[in-house]
Amino acid sequence: MIRFADLSFLDEITDIESRCFPPEQAAKREQFAGRLRVYPQHFLLLCDDDGKAAAFVNGFVTDEPDLTDEMYAFPEKHNENGAWQMIFGLCTRPEHRHKGYAKSLMNEMLRLAKVQGRKGAVLTCKERLIGFYEQFGFVNEGISRGSVIGGVKWYQMRLRF
Ligand SMILES: CC(C)(COP(=O)(O)OP(=O)(O)OC[C@H]1O[C@@H](n2cnc3c(N)ncnc32)[C@H](O)[C@@H]1OP(=O)(O)O)[C@@H](O)C(=O)NCCC(=O)NCCS
Repeated sequence: MIRFADLSFLDEITDIESRCFPPEQAAKREQFAGRLRVYPQHFLLLCDDDGKAAAFVNGFVTDEPDLTDEMYAFPEKHNENGAWQMIFGLCTRPEHRHKGYAKSLMNEMLRLAKVQGRKGAVLTCKERLIGFYEQFGFVNEGISRGSVIGGVKWYQMRLRF
């Protein structure tokens, strides 16, 4: 079941993130708390039959066209009337992978952004996931200048509705 997240899921979300990324790339509990306070309506969970979170996707909305590391840290930069739905994180618990959870969450995030009248969606990802995001219609724009988090090479991808 896909639902909006809220602060009651803070520990579960932080735990999933820590299983998906090494510490220098993982968002911290306090960052998630800020995001859940400011834009829970842009934070989706896919829960298993027991109501436990198995996967999540989140990101705020902005008129700024390019994704920067600053956006991860400052939820208050969210602009509900902005043009672009940013995607800050898409994560599935390791034991729930390969079940289509991430695909379902991304499709729902994009459906909502489209009905809300956004121009499109923007994300950054590692090279090996470019193909994964192309299946939704994201186009690779090359190495991101705005995101260098964790000392990794991030590629920016954009989908225009
Ligand atoms: C990436 C991630 C979110 C995928 O989650 P998932 O729920 O297993 O994904 P889905 O089941 O919806 O989709 C997987 C399918 O996408 C497709 N796919 C995956 N990687 C792909 C690639 N590089 N190119 C093309 N297609 C790809 C395959 O068809 C795959 O099917 P398979 O599982 O049968 O091999 C998950 O592996 C994860 O949390 N990774 C760690 C965090 C991370 O890197 N997140 C992305 C941030 S940039």
